[in-house]
Parts: sequence; C-alpha cells; structure tokens
Amino acid sequence: TYLGIDIGTSAVKAVVVDEAQALLASASVPLTTSRPHPLWSEQHPDQWWTATNQAVVTLRQSAPEAFARTAAIGLSGQMHGAVLLDAADRPLCPAILWNDGRAAAECEALQAAVPNLGHIAGVVAMPGLTAPKLLWLARHEPALFTQTAHILLPKDYVRLKLTGNHVTDPTDAAGTLLLDEASRDWSPELLNACGLTQAQMPRISDGTAPAGRLLPAIAAEWGLPVGTIVAGGAGDAAAGAVGIGAINCGDAFISLGTSAQIFVTTGSYRPYPETLIHSFAHTLPRTWFQMAALLNGASVVEWAARLTGQPDIPDLLARTEAAFTAPQRLLFLPYLAGERTPHNDPHARGVLFGLTPETSPTAVMQSVLEGVAYSLLEAHDCLTAAGTPVTHAAIIGGGARSLFWTRIIASTLGIPITRYTGSESGPAFGAARLARIAATGEAIDTICTKPPTLDVTEPDRRLHEVYRENSVRFRRLYRALREEFR
Ligand code: XUL
Repeated sequence: TYLGIDIGTSAVKAVVVDEAQALLASASVPLTTSRPHPLWSEQHPDQWWTATNQAVVTLRQSAPEAFARTAAIGLSGQMHGAVLLDAADRPLCPAILWNDGRAAAECEALQAAVPNLGHIAGVVAMPGLTAPKLLWLARHEPALFTQTAHILLPKDYVRLKLTGNHVTDPTDAAGTLLLDEASRDWSPELLNACGLTQAQMPRISDGTAPAGRLLPAIAAEWGLPVGTIVAGGAGDAAAGAVGIGAINCGDAFISLGTSAQIFVTTGSYRPYPETLIHSFAHTLPRTWFQMAALLNGASVVEWAARLTGQPDIPDLLARTEAAFTAPQRLLFLPYLAGERTPHNDPHARGVLFGLTPETSPTAVMQSVLEGVAYSLLEAHDCLTAAGTPVTHAAIIGGGARSLFWTRIIASTLGIPITRYTGSESGPAFGAARLARIAATGEAIDTICTKPPTLDVTEPDRRLHEVYRENSVRFRRLYRALREEFR
C-alpha cells in the first residue's frame, strides 16, 4: 500500500491506497491558523508534525494491516509557506502562510531589484509567495533572519522530520518565487535579491523520485520498515493534478479547497506574468503548468454558513438550491483573504452588495457561491489572455461535492465541467500516487490515470448570458472599491 499525506491549511489529511488504487483508509486532523495582526496568517510547523502523527494513529487504528504494508510515503501540502530553521533544524518562528498579506512593500522592492522577475519565476511578486515574506523578515526581524540556516516549504518540514533531509519538489520550489522555472533550479539572481544563498535552500527532487528514507525512530514509532521511501511529492495544486491524472498538455481543472485554482498542465514553460497567471514547474519531469491562484475558495462558503448561523452546510446548500429561481442581484466579492489572481491585492476584502429587507440566508449563500464563480470567470479570462483558453475542466476539492455549485460555475464560465469519483481526497491521493511511482518506477501515465467520471455538467446557455452580464457589475464593484480597501 501507499501512504499519502497532505499538509493542508485547515487540516492534515492522510490516505492509504492499495495496488488497485482503491482508498482503504483516510484520516483528517484539523489545524488552526493564527492571525495576530491584520493581513498576517501563520501556523507553527510543530502543529503539522503533531497532526501528521495523529493522522497516522487514526489510520493504524482503522486499517492496521493496510497501514503496516506501506511501501512508500508521498507528501503534498499548502504552497508558499515560509518555514525558517536554525542550524539545529528548529523552527525560528511560526511559518508565514500563503494567505498572508503583509509583504506588499517587499514585492515592490523585489520587482524593482529584478525587473524581469516575472519571466524568471513565472509570476510577478505577490504577497503570500515565499520570497517577499523572507524579505519582510530580513527587514523586520533581522536577528532572526541571520540565524536562518534552512528554508523549507510546509510539506518539506514534515519530510525533514521523517527523513532528516532538506528536500523540496519543483512545484513547491516554484511557489517560492526563487526558482528559475525554465531550468528548474534556484535562481542565483533572485536568491541574491533576497539576501539568500543556495546553501540555505533545499535540494530539488522531482515529485516522482525518491527523496529520502524513513528514519529508524519514526519507523519504529509508526510500525513501518526502516528506510521506507519518501517521494518528492508536490504542492497541493499539483498533487491534485496527479490525483486526477491531469498530466498531459491541456488537461485543466478547477480546485475548490480553502483556496481555489484553475490549473492547466503545459508541455513547456509559458510565462505570462502580466496576466497574474502563475507559470510553474510541474512535479513531473519535463512538465510545467499555468495556474490562476485565488485565495478564496470553499472557505468562504464555510464562513457564510457560520455567519448566518446555519452550520449544516449540505442542508443550507440544499435549501439554497430549492430557493434558486435566477442569478442573484445581490453581489458578493469573495476577497476575505485579499486576492492574488486576478487582482494582486492583499487589501481587498469581502463585500455583500445590494442587501434588502428581504435578503435571506439562502440568498446570501447563493450570492456567495456566485461570487466565487464570478471570480473564477475572471481567472478564466486571465488564462485566455495568457494564451491558454480553457474549454472544459474537471473540478476537485471539497467544493466539488456540491453539484449545485458545479452547475453555477459551469454556467458562469460557459464550459462543461467533469466530476470524478473520489476526487475529494485530491492532493493526498495524488501524493500516494507519487509515492508509488518513486518506489516501483512504474510509468507515470499508467499510474496517473483519470478516475471514473461521476458526471459532466453542461453550462446552461440562458444562465450563462445573465451571469456574463452580472460579472460586469461584479468587476465594476471591485474597481469602485479598490481604493476604499486600503
Ligand atoms: C496556490 C496557493 C494555495 C495553497 C493552499 O498558489 O496559494 O493553493 O497551496 O492551498
């Protein structure tokens, strides 16, 4: 069997997958995020390690034999997190996460220092990416910055605990803004602009390659053989791609987890930084991808359910669907955590516009679902501008559980959307596939197949017209408020 571990933002998720790629067991251990100041978002790396161990305990209880047969481990995780370690590999501070917006001034400084940064690193400097946050620490916490012996990404901190190695994969390296995407190696120019050296950076291993072996102490604790292979793995977006077999040029999907992405696999490096699309190295050899990265995905639905005092989300969605007659006049800007694509604006905030005495919780929920869909439509337009029009896509992540939301998105984007069976286990399942390839050397395309189709949702052409028109109002509303958010 193969063990996939995803260091998410809201939870660590772990799965055990067998030789027939059947899911034998899964576990999810929640994580908390701290926001000690406006725009900040942090988690302590020890929390990931504790949660990983708890997830393993659960797996061992629920499927002891399957777990004990683990032949290799794959890791996936939230991207862009800045993990700083001292010379003894101890975290120097909480990790600064992908949805942290403090480093806007440092983005400007980096762009000024390296004007062609976007073409080297595949995306313009945006708060939340690793490099600007490191520059922020260099400026605001110089004592801490000078003690930094190693920089890692979230899943790679867990790898360090498992294997003792400082290693990352091409996708998490890409998300740092320090990678030369074309050569898939650290960029001396970008490292230099951040006051960093190659020696502080992890080695880069393809996600499909072995990147270390389980240390004796952990092997004993987990009941696994010493030396069990730990694969390179991938950042969560790319691990999701591997999980649904989006490995060939043009394969596209929407991911609706805490954040949201539209992800398209490409056969070459295709930067178009002006569009705010991320063009990154894929975790598979000789493969890249283009990604619209939205900071606000299914998390805004959870937020709206809490806010309206309706914690049973499936029930609230069912009632919202039953009450649906037409697209809402009520508009929701979903930028609770600021936004990357298409705005590069850490100050953007959520807005409910057009409230009336009749506005009900289901109307709010519909506008929330539609707000994310409008945001995806803008992201879709960015991909088109970057030369990658998406004419059909799959959908994965927690949000994909809702066929109603899938219909809204298909009609807003005007494209058919496919759901696969079992795609909620996404990145952890992809990580287990990478573990298998690393351990057995099997061909990528024999393992990374597309799961069976659950359903294909065609866009409703009449709704698409209305959604297109409403999206113009949605975009105008953001532009009208842009300055007010500051
Ligand atoms: C991608 C991104 C998020 C995080 C958290 O660029 O910021 O997907 O990986 O899920």
